Amino acid sequence: MAAEDQFKKVISHAKEYGYVFPSSEIYDGLSAVYDYGQNGVALKNNIRAYWWKAMVQMHENIVGIDAAIFMHPTTWKASGHVDAFNDPLIDNKDSKKRYRADVLIEDYVGKLDTKIEKEVVKAAKRFGDQFDKEQFLATNPRVVKYKERGSEILARMGKSLENEDLADVKALIEELEIACPLSGSRNWTEVKQFNLMFGTKLGASAESATDLFLRPETAQGIFVNFSNVQKTGRMKIPFGIAQTGKAFRNEIVARQFIFRMREFEQMEMQFFIQPGTQKKWYDHWKETRLNWHLSLGMGTDNYRFHDHDKLAHYADAACDIEFRFPFGFKELEGIHSRTDFDLSSHEKFSSKKLQYFDHERNESYVPYVLETSVGLDRMFLAVFSNAFQEETLEDGSKRTVLKLPAVLAPTKVAVFPLVKKDGLPEIARSIVNDLKWDIETAYDEKDAVGRRYRRQDALGTPFCITVDHQTVEDQTVTLRHRDTMKQQRVAISELSDILKKEVSMRTWLERI
Ligand code: GAP
Repeated sequence: MAAEDQFKKVISHAKEYGYVFPSSEIYDGLSAVYDYGQNGVALKNNIRAYWWKAMVQMHENIVGIDAAIFMHPTTWKASGHVDAFNDPLIDNKDSKKRYRADVLIEDYVGKLDTKIEKEVVKAAKRFGDQFDKEQFLATNPRVVKYKERGSEILARMGKSLENEDLADVKALIEELEIACPLSGSRNWTEVKQFNLMFGTKLGASAESATDLFLRPETAQGIFVNFSNVQKTGRMKIPFGIAQTGKAFRNEIVARQFIFRMREFEQMEMQFFIQPGTQKKWYDHWKETRLNWHLSLGMGTDNYRFHDHDKLAHYADAACDIEFRFPFGFKELEGIHSRTDFDLSSHEKFSSKKLQYFDHERNESYVPYVLETSVGLDRMFLAVFSNAFQEETLEDGSKRTVLKLPAVLAPTKVAVFPLVKKDGLPEIARSIVNDLKWDIETAYDEKDAVGRRYRRQDALGTPFCITVDHQTVEDQTVTLRHRDTMKQQRVAISELSDILKKEVSMRTWLERI
């Protein structure tokens, strides 16, 4: 099935099963803004909790905060967002559609990557067991040519954007003969910069109102609280401050469902270190964060690192952890070595010292910062789209199943009485009442058991328990596993321990 069709199915499944709805849909929605439904909010909360546990609870030297969305407007001057948080935009004169110039170029390079993937698939078929993917990628002349071409293009774009040479960005689009995806026309305007922050006002009257911005990242709430946390928590370097929360960006090319939204949530951690140690910590956090993603068991082949050619104004090294979304490999998380840019700049603008006194070295310095930043909604999309599968079973019937990692599933277990009589509902209810203290548990007695299994498969529930007439005799039930559809007979008294182990964060995080 074409990737585009598959993605459409993912989006409609998300709506049909109460995961994600278009915002204010009764008024025809609001572009690039979405609401999470009854199952979506549970999945999102579980992803956030999984991140928080791994980053805060499991690290003695990382603490969390919850800073306000509104911040003093000077924050955004100091952070560089007022002057440099821009996207280079280009309009197509025929379709009147507006695009991000860098995205048009990146999509062009993405097509080269797709060609490379096709070569790999062809070669894997041709060479069978003998196929050595690494060697093929390094030596096949066509693949090497595509890779070199892609790198050249991205390097040139990076340099032009860094030098604010927007005329060259346009020249590159023309040289690559990139056409408007809508009209096919190559009739482009000049490239212009556009600031992505949403402005708002604080205050009752127009004269006295202060101009504010909705925060475009959560990171700055951490920087401005550096000294508060360091002093009150008696934190010693190296240490981290973590935060999750909403961020807002007036994205021009807002598309691909919840991949790029105007209102979204970030999970960020700033790790404060001694200057000069940034390379060590950069490597450490790259590995640690990739391992966190891998712990969810969504396939090693679905992740890759992408090192940035074009560095943001604050970074001396940066990379993305990319995930294979239904529309190709795209950024899921950013890892940035931010030097002392932010703290130094806030020192300058606020005239307050944001330094650390290192007792061992008997000196004060502005710490360097390593940042890990992952979008919660983007993580949701990675988990949800990877989980969505349509299977043809041995008997030829079809099932739609969400193979969500059990630790994240909104409902971990659904309990069914086989029939609505003979005391079976009462036993099923008592199992629910026991399990629900520790595990998200549902009760379902409608329709035949087969249909109930299908419903829970489509919702992503990893376990189902069926109470039948044998249960009355021997206090055992059927425990059915979503992915394998295998069933086992288990004593009611063992259920809680078995399930708690299967869905506990400890079980999953210990795989790291
Ligand atoms: N503090 C650094 C920072 O904000 P970023 O690369 O701009 O860096 C970090 O954003 C992460 O936030 C991205 O990797 C992505 O997962 C998420 N993100 C950024 N913009 C987004 C948007 N418009 N919609 C959804 N998620 C977004």
